[in-house]
Amino acid sequence: MLFKLVTTLSLLLWICKADDVLKNNGQFPRNFMFGAASSAYQIEGAWNEDGKGLSTWDHFVRRTPSPVVDNTTGDVACDSYRRWKEDVKLVADLGVQSYRFSISWPRILPSGYDKHVNEKGLEFYKQLVQEIIKHGMVPVATIFHWDLPQFLFDNGLDWTNEELINVFVRYARFVIKNLPEVGYWITINEPRVHCRRSYGDGLHAPGVSDDGIGDYKCTYNILKAHAAVYRMYKREFPRYKAKMGMVVDCQWYEPASNRPEDVEAAERHYQFECGMYLHPIFQGDWPPLVKYRVAERSRREGYTKSRLPSFTAEEVKFMRGTQDFLGVNHYSTTSVSNVQEASYNETRFAHDIRVSINRKLNWEVSFLGWGVVPTGVRRLLNLFKERYNDPDVMFTEIGVADDGTTLRDDIRIRYFRSYFCNILEAMQVDKVSVVGIIPWSAMDSFEWHRGYEARFGFYAIDFENDPQLLRRPKMSVNYYKSIVESKRLHCNTAVSVWNDKEIL
Ligand SMILES: *[C@@H]1O[C@H](CO)[C@@H](O)[C@H](O)[C@H]1NC(C)=O
Ligand SMILES: *[C@@H]1O[C@H](CO)[C@@H](O)[C@H](O)[C@H]1NC(C)=O
Repeated sequence: MLFKLVTTLSLLLWICKADDVLKNNGQFPRNFMFGAASSAYQIEGAWNEDGKGLSTWDHFVRRTPSPVVDNTTGDVACDSYRRWKEDVKLVADLGVQSYRFSISWPRILPSGYDKHVNEKGLEFYKQLVQEIIKHGMVPVATIFHWDLPQFLFDNGLDWTNEELINVFVRYARFVIKNLPEVGYWITINEPRVHCRRSYGDGLHAPGVSDDGIGDYKCTYNILKAHAAVYRMYKREFPRYKAKMGMVVDCQWYEPASNRPEDVEAAERHYQFECGMYLHPIFQGDWPPLVKYRVAERSRREGYTKSRLPSFTAEEVKFMRGTQDFLGVNHYSTTSVSNVQEASYNETRFAHDIRVSINRKLNWEVSFLGWGVVPTGVRRLLNLFKERYNDPDVMFTEIGVADDGTTLRDDIRIRYFRSYFCNILEAMQVDKVSVVGIIPWSAMDSFEWHRGYEARFGFYAIDFENDPQLLRRPKMSVNYYKSIVESKRLHCNTAVSVWNDKEIL
């Protein structure tokens, strides 16, 4: 008995060793903003109703064979175009301070151009914003969350075409002018995923495969479009209080070993996925590593110039500083190792980035196979602070998928607890500035080419068997609510700690 007690005590002592305990007090600041997120195509449905124009996604999901793994579409999705009031209330029931949604470009401007307005579409978003405010929440609105008007695409105006920039600025001006009560504007959601999937590997609408070329053209244009909207907003709407930024998707890229080539590979991975979008905005121009690598491979592959378009000095200046906060969608951590240079007879983004990604055996993995690695978020925050001059960071998405078979989503509770504790640790111990956390997602929804397979929501929907599309709270609703209402959680035990002495 005594022996048992001593072992238990020493085990406890071992767990509580100074090094292994988070040092934060579990308290988020009073004005910290929590929220929940969604996007138009993923929840609205009503794909061809009330004068809405078609988007590239409306077309894409009608291809045969279906480009979506479970052959589904967003035609109905969560039917939120009709149930928006109920949905705003469900989000408000979480106790949060904000709701992030996106505006469907073709619902407001069916052709994409601002010369023809669909009044019913505009009215929908005006009412939505009013309803969010009525519930005491801040509307966080994404201007472009991947649903490009099909009419523009049919006329050659996609993100690989520089001419789309002006059309986009006009659309952005129109929604900003008409929705003056939005509290945060997000110009573009995850330009990396959008450019890679839509113009690189073709897994997303409009399904263009132009690997290592189309994706870079898209990146170049979309970054300039973001900057143009930001400059327009600051120039034309000086009285508006809303902050504006772009939202990037950044994971943590952990070297697979301490070998220099793996450490370099992890840095390459970071720069090609994350730095490519943040460097032009926070520091100016492409990250040097990316610029030189693509130029060098392009040359050896026989191109007369780099596949990565270059910015002029004026463009560099125009883009630098076009952010009021750093919006980041973060989910997971990958373990990165070096691979050999591929031969120069083919052009592929994978050859440019030249890494192999994996996960460590001791990581918990979610339904999608993504590692649940809470220490990664703290490392990422420290890197942002160091590289981008201590920006205000807002998590515009963060979350974990389940398979939709149960409302007992323990993994989500574990995920939020451990990730939030590491975010708090970064805030209090490392002095990183984090202003908000808006988890993905308010409710289960259409997850692009994965269809309804992966469920990220606080509220469950049984898309297959329930024509009523009833929203049912998962267990994580109460857990999240308790954190949001007290701005407090317990971080003293059972949370992985970033230990500098070892690789994860
Ligand atoms: C999707 O449709 C194809 C035929 O077009 C079929 O072979 C496949 O089994 C379907 N997949 C699912 C998950 O229903
Ligand atoms: C390029 O070269 C490699 C190795 O020499 C070869 O395996 C591959 O099939 C080639 N690819 C093309 C597209 O020719």
